[in-house]
Amino acid sequence: MNLSNNTILITGGTSGIGLELARQLLAAGNTVLITGRSASRLAEVRSAVPALHTFICDQRDPASIVSACRSISETFPSLNMLINNAGIGRKRNLNETDRPLDDLEDEIRTNLTGPIQLINQLLPLLKRQQRATIVNVTSGLAFVPMALKPIYCATKAAMHSYTQSLRVQLAKTRVKVVELAPPATGTAFNTDQQDMNAHRQMDVATLCRAALRGLEKERDEVLPGASRLIRLIGRISPRTTFKRADAEQMGTG
Ligand SMILES: NC(=O)c1ccc[n+]([C@@H]2O[C@H](COP(=O)([O-])OP(=O)(O)OC[C@H]3O[C@@H](n4cnc5c(N)ncnc54)[C@H](OP(=O)(O)O)[C@@H]3O)[C@@H](O)[C@H]2O)c1
Repeated sequence: MNLSNNTILITGGTSGIGLELARQLLAAGNTVLITGRSASRLAEVRSAVPALHTFICDQRDPASIVSACRSISETFPSLNMLINNAGIGRKRNLNETDRPLDDLEDEIRTNLTGPIQLINQLLPLLKRQQRATIVNVTSGLAFVPMALKPIYCATKAAMHSYTQSLRVQLAKTRVKVVELAPPATGTAFNTDQQDMNAHRQMDVATLCRAALRGLEKERDEVLPGASRLIRLIGRISPRTTFKRADAEQMGTG
């Protein structure tokens, strides 16, 4: 895959992996669009990286997704790559049954329903291009769950499964489907578990370079760092679940 002269939408581009992918893809000569929930954060990023095009899109809200996709399709009809990157992960103690589950839907919509809806909205446009790519960002934890973040891991496992089906259903189109499963990576995402795997985290720029190399090589699945080993563990020993100590060893995120 040629990683220049594309028009690329990255969801969740205001920080972490999304912002670093945006920077590297801009440097490689692409037109890059990013989304985020907050107008002020998007404005901050735009002033730091003026070449970026920004769109408000809250993946928890189906109406926000429809409206963002409409304006993106109108403004950038040459869009040929969607990177479904936005995601959140909450620590949850499932024994605390009296704790309200108010934020449950936030996690499921941001990580699973939202990306599926984005693909649904943008697929007709992607299918009209000479070549197009959908990249779904899952996690090493899609293959072996970490008990500390049970809903997060369930959404990523579901996204992995959905991505496999999507690839088969789009096999006869010009749209390639790629899964990028990062290992623990040094971003704001892990601020609530820095104690656990700070020393094991992959540097975000290194992760993104590995991701782009995988895309250039036309891989269906890009598994940087520890993610390849975690996937193998999930196959050899399907009942493995990372407990806190295991997670420290593996540097899972
Ligand atoms: N870091 C890791 O260790 C790690 C490991 C494996 C997989 N991943 C995956 O990599 C992806 C990126 O994570 P990251 O580490 O870069 O995290 P991050 O720095 O926290 O960035 C998350 C991004 O998602 C956006 N976002 C969150 N909720 C959103 C919503 N409702 N609608 C739209 N955008 C939303 C945030 O934008 P705003 O806050 O501005 O809306 C932000 O740009 C996630 O899917 C994550 O699951 C990360």
